[in-house]
Amino acid sequence: MERTKTGIPGLDELLNGGIPKGSNVLVSGGAGTGKTILTTQYVYNGAVNYGEAGLFVTLEGNVKDIAWNMESFQWNIKALQENNMLTIYRLNLGFLKEKTKIEDRIEEQLSEIEREVREINAKRLVIDSTTVFGAYIEPSLLRTTLFQFCDKLKSMGCTTLLTSETQPTKTTFSAFGVEEFVADGIIALYFSPPNRSLFVRKMRGTKHDKNPHPLEITPQGIVVKPHDNILWEAIK
Ligand SMILES: Nc1ncnc2c1ncn2[C@@H]1O[C@H](COP(=O)(O)OP(=O)(O)OP(=O)(O)O)[C@@H](O)[C@H]1O
Ligand SMILES: [Mg+2]
Repeated sequence: MERTKTGIPGLDELLNGGIPKGSNVLVSGGAGTGKTILTTQYVYNGAVNYGEAGLFVTLEGNVKDIAWNMESFQWNIKALQENNMLTIYRLNLGFLKEKTKIEDRIEEQLSEIEREVREINAKRLVIDSTTVFGAYIEPSLLRTTLFQFCDKLKSMGCTTLLTSETQPTKTTFSAFGVEEFVADGIIALYFSPPNRSLFVRKMRGTKHDKNPHPLEITPQGIVVKPHDNILWEAIK
């Protein structure tokens, strides 16, 4: 089976070598657990270490802030952007004043994502964060919309990470309770100060580790300790 290595120290070992290629994987966690850092590191590593271009789609931050955060880890992203190895794209579901139907707006944004993927031949895609959909879509439409959105992303041929901001509990893996079933995999992040941890909750098509492990945010980015365990009782 072909795998997409995250290149994040310690993580691929937990995944038996990497994420099965073409998967949609949910990166879930409460506020400040490291979702954005982990997913930016994933596209950065792809471009630098594996020759795979990446598209990072942000729904909540502006492009400059994402770039600035990446540069704070000494990742030279300008060169990657210039060489068409990395694109940061701000997806905007707003413009509701123009009375565009949200379904049409999502359709339009999906086409734009697809165009950006083709333009750089991206193999890695990130959507940060899917939780923002909740601000624009009424609850009755949310499940089908997210389902269709993920389905369409899957057809683009990338290995995709989607973030979801959850309530800080151990057993909640998505904001709307649908993303976790749609996704092929779930990587859960926890922060019980001062301890951060990571747990692979599911990964279709591969063996994977089944325990929480310490995660550290170092000046070079996220590092996971696959040989150290965190007790479930220590996660709040
Ligand atoms: N350079 C750094 N060194 C160490 N820790 C850092 C560094 N930069 C950020 N952090 C820590 O990482 C946290 C933010 O991580 P990140 O933005 O990835 O979280 P997130 O899960 O995306 O949060 P949100 O839900 O707010 O989007 C900060 O709150 C801080 O604790
Ligand atoms: Mg974030």
